[in-house]
Amino acid sequence: MAVKASKALDRVLVLEMVRVTEAAAIAASKLVGRGDEKAADAAAVEAMRGAFNELDFDGTVVIGEGERDEAPMLYIGEKVGKCSPGAPKIDIALDPLEGTTLTAKASPNALAVLAIAEEGGLLNAPDVYMEKLAIGPGYERGIVSLTKTPTENVCAIAKAKGVRPDQIIACVLDRPRHDKMIAELRATGCGVMLIPDGDVAGVIAVTDPDTTIDIYMGSGGAPEGVLAAAALACVGGYFEGKLLFRNDDERARAKKWGVTDLDRIYQLEDLVKGDAIFAATGVTDGSLLKGVKRRKGMMTTESIVMRASSGTVRRVSGEHRR
Ligand code: FBP
Repeated sequence: MAVKASKALDRVLVLEMVRVTEAAAIAASKLVGRGDEKAADAAAVEAMRGAFNELDFDGTVVIGEGERDEAPMLYIGEKVGKCSPGAPKIDIALDPLEGTTLTAKASPNALAVLAIAEEGGLLNAPDVYMEKLAIGPGYERGIVSLTKTPTENVCAIAKAKGVRPDQIIACVLDRPRHDKMIAELRATGCGVMLIPDGDVAGVIAVTDPDTTIDIYMGSGGAPEGVLAAAALACVGGYFEGKLLFRNDDERARAKKWGVTDLDRIYQLEDLVKGDAIFAATGVTDGSLLKGVKRRKGMMTTESIVMRASSGTVRRVSGEHRR
């Protein structure tokens, strides 16, 4: 579906967003392998907030580090940017360090990541789990669905791809809660790539044939679901998400964020409406991006930035000498 360019998302912002994710990734990279998730996250948060506040826009964090009483910085509802009169009003979904444990253990696929859209353009997802299903671009809409079983979804994508189910690779977060689904997937003959963390990169991997991943399945954070959906809104692909609630407290939290139908299956365009920009910088090497590298006298970064209305995807290599 064609997306109209948003005036609020000025073209200049596309590259500015890379500065923001670069700042967070560089800060987090100083703590790679140090075994301290909290310190790595805090460094990324502080750097991302500082970089946002250099920009002349009127930003509101709609997906952030938590609610105001839980997070001192980049909490949901926090205003960022210079917010000068007339500055464009932007909603922001962010995860300054997606993969805190990956960073602490120097494992692959940790990212600094964000998405921006016009005011009201991003689902204010509560911090609960989301059941996710994603496939890459080039398939007819609706061939896979959360209303189908894992077996049906694997068979459907195999048929659409013109291969046997045993030639399909599914990516799933390695969690005990997925054991039953993994067993069912393996019974179809398909390969299951288990990732320890980092389902934003896992979902985006379906859009890149080099990863060999055909389909992403399973539950992870709902905020990460919106971030991954923003990337797919730019680059193409199909995504469905359903919020999962473990208790009444989580249901109440969802209602507070305006979720009325707790059983709703969200399509990509319910999560990300209209134009959007997605940006990410690698903290550690991964399927999407290389991580921050320290060389004599400088650091290098690799980032990706994309825009929904234009479908443009840019990879940005940075050399940072100070
Ligand atoms: P953090 O960076 O917040 O640790 O998140 C990592 C992550 O793996 C996400 O990518 C994923 O959505 C979520 O955690 C899954 O949650 P859980 O570890 O509870 O299964």
